[in-house]
Amino acid sequence: MQGFAGKIAVVTGAGSGIGQALAVELGRSGAGLAISDVNTEGLAQTEEQLKAIGAPVKTDRLDVTEREAFLAYADAINEHFGKVNQIYNNAGIAFTGDIEVSQFKDIERVMDVDFWGVVNGTKAFLPHLIASGDGHVINISSVFGLFSVPGQAAYNAAKFAVRGFTEALRQEMWVAGHPVKVTTVHPGGIKTAIARNATAVEGLDAAELAKVFDKKMASTTPEKAAQVILEGVRKNKARVLVGTDAKVLDAVVRLTGPGYQRLFGPITRRLVPRGKP
Ligand SMILES: NC(=O)c1ccc[n+]([C@@H]2O[C@H](COP(=O)([O-])OP(=O)(O)OC[C@H]3O[C@@H](n4cnc5c(N)ncnc54)[C@H](O)[C@@H]3O)[C@@H](O)[C@H]2O)c1
Repeated sequence: MQGFAGKIAVVTGAGSGIGQALAVELGRSGAGLAISDVNTEGLAQTEEQLKAIGAPVKTDRLDVTEREAFLAYADAINEHFGKVNQIYNNAGIAFTGDIEVSQFKDIERVMDVDFWGVVNGTKAFLPHLIASGDGHVINISSVFGLFSVPGQAAYNAAKFAVRGFTEALRQEMWVAGHPVKVTTVHPGGIKTAIARNATAVEGLDAAELAKVFDKKMASTTPEKAAQVILEGVRKNKARVLVGTDAKVLDAVVRLTGPGYQRLFGPITRRLVPRGKP
């Protein structure tokens, strides 16, 4: 893809799914990559693919919830490559459970990774992105950052928060005259390991839920998702919707306002049971 040659891009959660596909597509497009994950096995596979392409790559184990480590990592990447142009705050986890029966710690864990991980990455890299004179922050939210469903309150909260944070950042960069573009990404169902890596409240079978996700909800390949995201980045889109499902659902929410809740609630409830009362 045009527009990425010579850029240095940081991708978190690059050991699987969308992050891996983004890293590989960026490498093919001539970018240098800083890839990280807590899944070091998957990360090694991504590194191998990037080396085969001939893309410059630096590989590190990084937990996005560890703020001090993230700050040190940003400096190390800037030092290693001499600049940083783009960060894809992509690492994420999922959890299923109604609020009534979920533990505080389960909700906090999702916020830690899916929201605070994005805040940590954005703030750690922002000075370097500004200094590069050609920066771009790409934060991965979800369609669940556009509407809520039963059983996904923690994930919904984190992904709505990512959207709010990122939309404010875009305006801030523009008003301040900083050379940093900002894009929020809302994928629909993507065929990745997200549901298989997910946890669920006691009484729900996470493996069963993953089967339902893989069979009925995941429709777009990670490779296609990466292409759509990078096309949006290239065009400096404020918002990128990934997949026909995301576009249709977004339209329904915009047409119905809060009325979508009466439509989506019962449908989702049939797919995702409530768990232990
Ligand atoms: N798959 C979908 O349908 C879908 C839909 C909307 C949004 N998303 C979002 O896309 C992003 C990528 O997810 P995916 O579908 O590729 O899932 P995935 O499970 O295949 O990949 C996520 C990666 O993030 C890593 N990760 C998890 N916690 C981490 C942490 N604390 N620090 C560093 N890395 C960590 C995992 O090890 C994994 O390699 C996530 O933010 C997810 O919420 C996915």
